[in-house]
Amino acid sequence: MAPRIDEQLAAIGNDVFQRHPHPTHVTGRKRREMNGVLMSALLPPVEVEQGLTGCRGASEPLGPSRLSLAVHPMNVQVFAPPEWAGTLLANTAAQWQHLGETEPRWSVLTAEAFLQEHLAENLESFYASGLAELATLDATLARAGLGERRFQTCVELGCGVGRVTHALARRYATTGVDVSAAHLAIANHYVQSLGLPSVRLAQLLSIEGIKSLGRFDVAYSRLVLQHNPPPVMAALIAALLAALNPGGVAYFQIPTFKVGYRFETREYLESSQQTHMEMHYLPQATLFKIIADAGCRLLDIREDDSIGMSSTALSNTLLVERPLNQDPAPPLTP
Ligand SMILES: C[S@@+](CC[C@H](N)C(=O)[O-])C[C@H]1O[C@@H](n2cnc3c(N)ncnc32)[C@H](O)[C@@H]1O
Repeated sequence: MAPRIDEQLAAIGNDVFQRHPHPTHVTGRKRREMNGVLMSALLPPVEVEQGLTGCRGASEPLGPSRLSLAVHPMNVQVFAPPEWAGTLLANTAAQWQHLGETEPRWSVLTAEAFLQEHLAENLESFYASGLAELATLDATLARAGLGERRFQTCVELGCGVGRVTHALARRYATTGVDVSAAHLAIANHYVQSLGLPSVRLAQLLSIEGIKSLGRFDVAYSRLVLQHNPPPVMAALIAALLAALNPGGVAYFQIPTFKVGYRFETREYLESSQQTHMEMHYLPQATLFKIIADAGCRLLDIREDDSIGMSSTALSNTLLVERPLNQDPAPPLTP
């Protein structure tokens, strides 16, 4: 039987702390940042939420969002013609290929500790943080009453360099997809080094490409949708939900509000750069409509710190189910 996740985390924790104690010259902000990364990798989410820092550059303690309820709605164009959606995805792919070729791990967790120059001493904690994410998924499933349900297959949208993929693959037959060949090459190297035979990796060249992957029991995505313009976010979520088996679940994080954010496709395409990491937001009402239109239902929604806790922006993590007693979604023909 595989060791329980808390045992795995404890083992990794001992390993990380014994082999890589913080050098005494590491002080101040850098030391706090490394502590935050290690703690979030090693502690169950509930303890992280009790005031320790999260792992994605969050400098503030977690707590309820301070976003005012009295905010103006965002002006967001959510649907774009298919040919434009393809251009939008290609644009995002170019940005991430560039990031993958320059600072791949930092592009995944934007902490100084994961810049190439500091990587050697922090690589283990980087990948250990993926195990913590699996523990969070387990806790969410248990909270939703699905702790005993058997899930066998998983797709991870935006698997990056395999930080969470390797953890998911210890539990499910896992397919990781990503737009960036540079990230995928690192992910492939890492899962090979662990000898994880149940991982399949593929480059996502179009939104329709998700349909060719087949159906899954679990769809997982964190720190990914936020980097895609709203029409792509919407189409990706719909495609992921369509790929769920009856009784399957999607667990994903997505920013849903930013004061003053607006999106118009033509205007965006005229101004977007191909090297920057972008942040985008999909209104909650649109998100809930996509879930309902897919014949799925929301089981759990939490505010999260994936974009930092802020008084001007909101990110949510959702657990969505395709009900067990439902016919499969329409055929997945591309
Ligand atoms: C911040 S990283 C997060 C990686 C991984 N989810 C993790 O948490 O370790 C974002 C990743 O998503 C990928 N990505 C961005 N947009 C994508 C899309 N539309 N489809 C698939 N991958 C995407 C990027 O190439 C990058 O590898």
